[in-house]
Amino acid sequence: MVEKQRGVTIWLTGLSGAGKTTICQFLDTKLRSHEYQIEVLDGDVVRQNLSKGLTFSKEDRNENIRRIGFVAHLLTRNNIIVLVSVISPYRVIREELKAQIGDFIEVYVNAPLEVCEQRDVKGLYKKARVGEITNFTGIDNLYEIPLNPDVECKTDQESIAESANKILNKLEELGYINPLLLPQFHNYSRI
Ligand SMILES: Nc1ncnc2c1ncn2[C@@H]1O[C@H](COP(=O)(O)OP(=O)(O)OP(=O)(O)O)[C@@H](O)[C@H]1O
Ligand SMILES: [Mg+2]
Repeated sequence: MVEKQRGVTIWLTGLSGAGKTTICQFLDTKLRSHEYQIEVLDGDVVRQNLSKGLTFSKEDRNENIRRIGFVAHLLTRNNIIVLVSVISPYRVIREELKAQIGDFIEVYVNAPLEVCEQRDVKGLYKKARVGEITNFTGIDNLYEIPLNPDVECKTDQESIAESANKILNKLEELGYINPLLLPQFHNYSRI
């Protein structure tokens, strides 16, 4: 049983298909198995409820991110570990939320555009290329890369477990979680 859990928002930003949702699912499973209390705010899910009706214009994207940030803040101050997976392309808003929430780990989920487009998990790059959808990040909308992320996952070079373990290492280093006693967890990034 976890004795006393500290809240933190783990904010995964990156292009569509970079791996944000995949890494969050891995972390969710792992942390829950160690009895941490977790909440997940995923961009796709949020846009079906909390942000229903918002578009992908700059204003609406920022509105979406601020709403997610507001909920993440409430949860974090109640000692929940919050996993956020949302493209969040604009630097200034991410930095605003970091300052607001405080207990905030920015994770840059980094895969080159060509790799994301090759993966095309949802078929959206194909649609964006032929103009069926517009304002698509990386194609006809800007993505501002994090200048100083707390963690960077290079998902074209790492396994899902390696990417997730980088984040677990950071959580442990900052005292948000206890060592999870997994062999791969201890070997990774300390060698
Ligand atoms: N190290 C890795 N971490 C995460 N995903 C990886 C990694 N290596 C390969 N992948 C693959 O990359 C894809 C990432 O898709 P995913 O839906 O997680 O992206 P996303 O960033 O959530 O995109 P979106 O913004 O559209 O929701 C998956 O098919 C996943 O299996
Ligand atoms: Mg996703």
